[in-house]
Amino acid sequence: MAYKDVYAAWKTDPEGFWMDAAKAIDWDEAPSKALFDKGDHLYEWFADAKVNTCYNAVDRHVENGRGEQTAIIYDSPITHTKREISYVELRNRVAMLAGALRAKGVEKGDRVIIYMPMVPEALEAMLACARLGAVHSVVFGGFAAHELAVRIDDAKPKAIIAASCGVEPGRVVHYKPLLDAAIDQSTHKPDFCVIFQREQEVAELVEGRDYNWHGFQYGVEPAECVPVEGNHPAYILYTSGTTGQPKGVIRHTAGQLVALNWTMKNIYNVDPGDVFWAASDVGWVVGHSYICYAPLIHGNTTIVFEGKPVGTPDAGTFWRVISEHNVKSFFTAPTAFRAVKREDPKGEFVKKYDLSGLKTVYLAGERADPDTIVWAQEQLGVPVVDHWWQTETGWAIAANPIGIEELPIKLGSPTVPMPGYEVEILDEGGHPMKAGELGAIAIKLPLPPGTLPNLWNAEERFKKSYLSHFPGYYETGDAGMMDEDGYVYIMARTDDVINVAGHRLSTGAMEEVLAAHPDVAECAVIGVTDQLKGQMPVGFLCLNAGADKAHDDVVKDVIKMVRDQIGPVAAFKLAVVVDRLPKTRSGKILRGTMVNIADGTAFKMPATIDDPAILDEIKDALQTIGYAKD
Ligand code: COA
Ligand code: AMP
Repeated sequence: MAYKDVYAAWKTDPEGFWMDAAKAIDWDEAPSKALFDKGDHLYEWFADAKVNTCYNAVDRHVENGRGEQTAIIYDSPITHTKREISYVELRNRVAMLAGALRAKGVEKGDRVIIYMPMVPEALEAMLACARLGAVHSVVFGGFAAHELAVRIDDAKPKAIIAASCGVEPGRVVHYKPLLDAAIDQSTHKPDFCVIFQREQEVAELVEGRDYNWHGFQYGVEPAECVPVEGNHPAYILYTSGTTGQPKGVIRHTAGQLVALNWTMKNIYNVDPGDVFWAASDVGWVVGHSYICYAPLIHGNTTIVFEGKPVGTPDAGTFWRVISEHNVKSFFTAPTAFRAVKREDPKGEFVKKYDLSGLKTVYLAGERADPDTIVWAQEQLGVPVVDHWWQTETGWAIAANPIGIEELPIKLGSPTVPMPGYEVEILDEGGHPMKAGELGAIAIKLPLPPGTLPNLWNAEERFKKSYLSHFPGYYETGDAGMMDEDGYVYIMARTDDVINVAGHRLSTGAMEEVLAAHPDVAECAVIGVTDQLKGQMPVGFLCLNAGADKAHDDVVKDVIKMVRDQIGPVAAFKLAVVVDRLPKTRSGKILRGTMVNIADGTAFKMPATIDDPAILDEIKDALQTIGYAKD
C-alpha cells in the first residue's frame, strides 16, 4: 500500500485502523473499542483494556523465543564500557528491581522519579515502574537541583531512583548532592531513595532514607507484571512551557503501546531483531519513546549510548557504534550532525567504518537545515529523514514513512502527516489557510493514540495551553505551512520556547531567574540563531536606579544563577546590560524584533513600537557580544 492509501484508510475508518494496529499488543483484556470521547474535547484510547507495558516490552519476547536476543547494548565511550543485556536477563533484572520497590511499598499509581544518566539501569528503572503500574517521571541529568525540586513537588513521588553520578566530558556530574539539595528544597519528601552507585563516584547514603541499588534487591521476591487499565498513566514527562513551572505531559499505557509499536515498522522500517539506535537521552521524550519503549515493545535491540557526537573520543564515534553493532536505523538531532560536520567536514572518519548495515537516518528535535541533511546524505549514502514531533505527541506528527513508502525528500520539510494526525494551517481567527501560506500549525482533535491526553494535575492549564485558542484543534505552538503536495514545513515557535542543541527550553523560565537578581529591574531573554546549537539564549538586563554593582559582575551573577537554578543544559552564557527594552505602547516587550536584530534578518518596524530609537541601543549592545553584525 502507498502512503496515501494508508493515510486515507485511517481517515475513512480511524476506529478500524487503530483496532487493527492494537492486534500487535498482548492484552490481558482486549479493548472493546479504540476511542473514548470524554466530552469537552478530552479523549482517551483503549481505556477499557487491561495491559502491562513491561510485559509487552520484555516478558512476551522471552516467552516467544527471543530470550537470548540482546535487548540492550550499553556503549559508553566516556567510561570505556560496553555491555549487552539479553531479553531474559532484562526480564530477571527488572522483575527483581520491581520486587524490591514493591517490598518498600511502591504500588500501582505511585509516582517514582528517576534521575539517571545514560546507563541501562535507567531503562530498567523505567521498566520496573511499568511492571508495577507505578508512574515514572524521568528528570534529565543536565537540570539543576531546583528543577528537580519543582518536579518532586508536582509529581509527589513515593520513591526516587538516582545514580551516584553522571559523566560529562571533563567532569563528573555529582547527582547525589543535587538530589539531596532538591529534597531539601522540596515540600514533598519521598519515602525513600534508591542509589545506583557508579565506580566513577560512590555517593554517601542518608541512613534510613537511601538504599543501595544492589543491596535493597537482596532476597526479595521478583515481581510479576501488574495489568493496568488502558488509560492508566504510564509516565509523566515534564517539558518547558512559557513559565518556570514545567508542564507534566502524561502518557497513557495502551495508546503508547499501540502507537509506538506501529511506528517501528511503518516509520523506522525495522523488523523485530534489528538493531535500532536513538542517540538521545532518557530524560527527553526521544529517550522515552525510542531508546526505551518502542524498540523493546517491537522486539528490537536498542542502544544506550553514553557519550557525545564529538570528543568521546572523536567525530567518528557515531560511525563506530553503527558499524560495531550493525545499526539499521539511526536517530539523532541535527545539532549532533552539525557538531560532527564541523570537526570532520570531508567525512574522513566515515570512511574508516563499514556502514553497510545502515539503511536510514532520522533527524528530529529541531529544524533540520538543508546543509546538514545534504552533508549527511553525501557522507552516508542513505536517506536522511527529517521528522517533526513534540514531547506532547510522543511520536512523529509528520515523517517520511519509509516502512510504507519512501516519499521524495524535500529539503526543509519533515515530509507528510502520519495517520492519526490531521494537520491544518490556521490564521489568527482559526480559519484554514491555503497551501504555501504561513500560519499556526494545529491538529484536528482527537489526537491519535500515544499522545498526551492531559497534563498531570493541571487540566485547566492543558485546555488553556493547547485547546482553547482554536476550538476543536490541538495547538502545536509551531508555525509553518503546507505545500500543494501536503508536505509540512516547520518555521518557528509561536511562544517563548526556544530550542538549544535539540533541547527545549523556556525563555520565560530564564527571565524568572534573571528577575530575581536584586539589581535587575526588568529583563528579557531571546533565542538567537547559532551555527552549532540552532539557537542560543541571550539575556537583556535593565538595572535598578542606584544599583552600583559593575555591569560585568551582574552579568556573571545571572549566568551563574541560571546554571545553578535551571542547569547547565540551559547553556545560558550571554547577557548584556541595556538602559531600556523595546516595547509596544501597551508595554509588551518586542522579543521577535530583538531576534531579528541579533540575527541580522529583515524586519518591519512594529507599528506599535513606543520608541524606535531603542532598537539602535539593542543593536549596539548585541554587537558587544558578537551578534547583530552589520
Ligand atoms: N548531565 C549533566 N550535564 C549535561 C548533560 C547531562 N546529561 N547534558 C548536557 N550537559 C551539560 C553539558 O556538559 C554542558 O555543560 P558546560 O556548560 O559545562 O559545557 C551544558 O550542559 C550544555 O550542553 P549541550 O548544549 O549539550 O552542549 P555541549 O557543548 O556539551 O555539546 C553537542 C554540544 C551538539 C555535541 C550536544 O549538544 C549534542 O550532542 N546534542 C544532541 C542533543 C540531542 O541528542 N538531543 C536530543 C533531542 S532529540
Ligand atoms: P520537544 O518537545 O523537546 O521534542 O520539542 C518539540 C519542538 O521542537 C517542536 O514543537 C518544534 O518546535 C521543534 N521540533 C522538533 N522536531 C522538529 C523538526 N523536525 N523540525 C522543526 N522543528 C522541530
